[in-house]
Amino acid sequence: MTCNVPFDLLEAFMTDAFKAIGVPEEEAKTCANVLVMSDKRGIDSHGVGRLKPIYYDRIIKQKIQQPVTQFEIVRDMAATAVVDGHHGMGMVIGKRCMEMAIEKAHTYGLGMVVARNSTHYGFAAYYPIMACNAGMIGLTGTNARPSIAPTFGVENMLGTNPLVFGMPTDEGFPFTNDYATSIIQRGKIEQYEREGKDCPPGLVIGRDGKTKTDSAQILKELVSGEAALTPIGGIGEETGGYKGYGFATVVELLSAALQQGKFLSALSGIDESGKPQPYGLGHFFMAINIEHFCDLAAFKKTAGDILRELRASQKAPGADRIYTCGEKEHLAWLERQDKGAPIDEALQKQLIQIRDEQNLTRYRFPFEA
Ligand SMILES: NC(=O)c1ccc[n+]([C@@H]2O[C@H](COP(=O)([O-])OP(=O)(O)OC[C@H]3O[C@@H](n4cnc5c(N)ncnc54)[C@H](O)[C@@H]3O)[C@@H](O)[C@H]2O)c1
Repeated sequence: MTCNVPFDLLEAFMTDAFKAIGVPEEEAKTCANVLVMSDKRGIDSHGVGRLKPIYYDRIIKQKIQQPVTQFEIVRDMAATAVVDGHHGMGMVIGKRCMEMAIEKAHTYGLGMVVARNSTHYGFAAYYPIMACNAGMIGLTGTNARPSIAPTFGVENMLGTNPLVFGMPTDEGFPFTNDYATSIIQRGKIEQYEREGKDCPPGLVIGRDGKTKTDSAQILKELVSGEAALTPIGGIGEETGGYKGYGFATVVELLSAALQQGKFLSALSGIDESGKPQPYGLGHFFMAINIEHFCDLAAFKKTAGDILRELRASQKAPGADRIYTCGEKEHLAWLERQDKGAPIDEALQKQLIQIRDEQNLTRYRFPFEA
């Protein structure tokens, strides 16, 4: 049965789990914070559910990620920088890059930092929200394992490549359009698989051009290349699939070309002999200092007015509410703050496995009661 687990307990456990596999304490705290923030915002696909498959296993089993992050600034110009993450922790690299971008934007109005040789940095909105908390607009994107087929193609070429903005508002939470440029992303398919559910049709395409729905099979075939995700807008041109394809390509270009890193099929995480290898991901982070354009409070008010006017517009028959980006995450937090994160049975097993393997005996979870 799914069981709610307090966020504090999850964050402490993840911090200790990261420390146990070699991540230095402050960096372990950062990694755990990025993951737990995702759960707090209701993004279950990118929270504690990723601890084992995406971080723990890649560090200690596949050995394709370094627990100690060597953050090397390889080029530092006034408002821009290029960083090499040397396959360390993506969340640590991401946080430090956005801190640098914010610092540069304080001085120059704009700051942009790109990273090479990075690893999965978690839910993307974490970094733009840092900029919002500093009174700035934040922007980030990352490339990822090949997943999306180009329009009229069936081969997985582009990552799920999120393109995410954060804008401060007067509403108590920022605007964040926090999503992949595919209709669905792997984390959600992993979640469907854990829950024993099929993927809705139209989101995944096979080599025969037909849609696929078996979640477990899709996860395997995304790796073997037999299946690909469809871009926002869907299959073909009729519903504008080329628009999502274009945005995914923008993210690939900004993630890889500015830092001269790996791209597309080179990000498969598998070498020529079929063995796992570091992904070598690229990210970009931008901070825009609003005070260089207008008064921050005035910006927040106008931003809030725009969002409120959208939400107040006429609803479609049968719809009782219009949302704006970032609102559902805020509502999820209000709903979850006293309850904690829902942990399903498959995830409960993963947490117990990590606890036992790493001898973190002081932890007992509510689902063990
Ligand atoms: N690190 C990576 O490589 C990577 C890759 C892809 C996605 N991700 C992360 O995965 C997470 C989930 O991505 P996703 O593509 O499944 O997102 P999703 O499809 O669940 O969309 C979530 C976003 O859409 C907004 N939203 C939802 N319903 C809305 C409505 N009715 N009206 C207005 N806005 C609405 C939410 O506020 C949120 O910003 C994100 O946090 C993303 O950053 C990470």
